[in-house]
Amino acid sequence: MGDTPPEGAASDWTVPQRWEQFTAAEHALWDRLYARQTKLLPGRAAPEFLAGLTSLGLGDGGIPDFRRLSERLMRLTGWEVVAVPGLVPEDVFFEHLANRRFVAGNFLRRPEQIDYLEEPDVFHDVFGHVPLLANPVFADYMQAYGEGGLRSMQFGALHKLARLYWYTVEFGLIDTPEGLRIYGAGIVSSKGESLFALDDPSPNRIGFDLRRVLRTRYRIDDYQQAYFVIPSFEALLKTTLETDFAPLYAELEDLADIGPVDILAEDKVIARGTQAYALEAADRAGL
Ligand SMILES: [Fe+2]
Repeated sequence: MGDTPPEGAASDWTVPQRWEQFTAAEHALWDRLYARQTKLLPGRAAPEFLAGLTSLGLGDGGIPDFRRLSERLMRLTGWEVVAVPGLVPEDVFFEHLANRRFVAGNFLRRPEQIDYLEEPDVFHDVFGHVPLLANPVFADYMQAYGEGGLRSMQFGALHKLARLYWYTVEFGLIDTPEGLRIYGAGIVSSKGESLFALDDPSPNRIGFDLRRVLRTRYRIDDYQQAYFVIPSFEALLKTTLETDFAPLYAELEDLADIGPVDILAEDKVIARGTQAYALEAADRAGL
């Protein structure tokens, strides 16, 4: 605990969404972002994600009103979406997830930030994260993650568990009979990464392995250099529920971290990346 919520926020850091206060220009920007992404996503995003967009009415026009959105989500999977002013402390975040509440930023990016922003806004949080919460299996996974997050704090292992969130909820790929698909919110809410994660020859694409992922560092400043591919949401949920994390954290303590670009002998490599994109980016930055 420790951090106290900002003025105007409740003790669980939530604030009223005040949907009425979004301007016509903000609703129009949401529509623009929505149209741009949904044009790209058929054939790229997991079918469960696309189904959630429709069943939740996220394209009904404008920034969704959380009251209406939560009503629909509650009927489907018992989840709701609550507004927060910005990033919240980890224990607060986990507590919400464990109780099937997804916290979403209460602001929309400015037009000049359409392609890049540092703090997750309502488009990333709602368009990116909420559609899969309409899927019962993924909905259970997110709750399990919240419960696991609270436990990981007792073991000082949060930085390891955070990698699971990063490489699944934010940047996950999934195998389907039709080929690889994207489902991570950081990918599906980004035009550039929606293309890069599936089509670019640069990044590694590696079969998901929980222990491997918990050891793997990630980068937050650019496109990922490695993506992990789950076989199904059922398999992801099952592994998470069946793993006893306490002994696993203890075991991993003695093992070195794995760099974002490393490939291990035991990895199930789906595509070995050229890393050309990251090398060029480093060149441009003069590194
Ligand atoms: Fe996110």
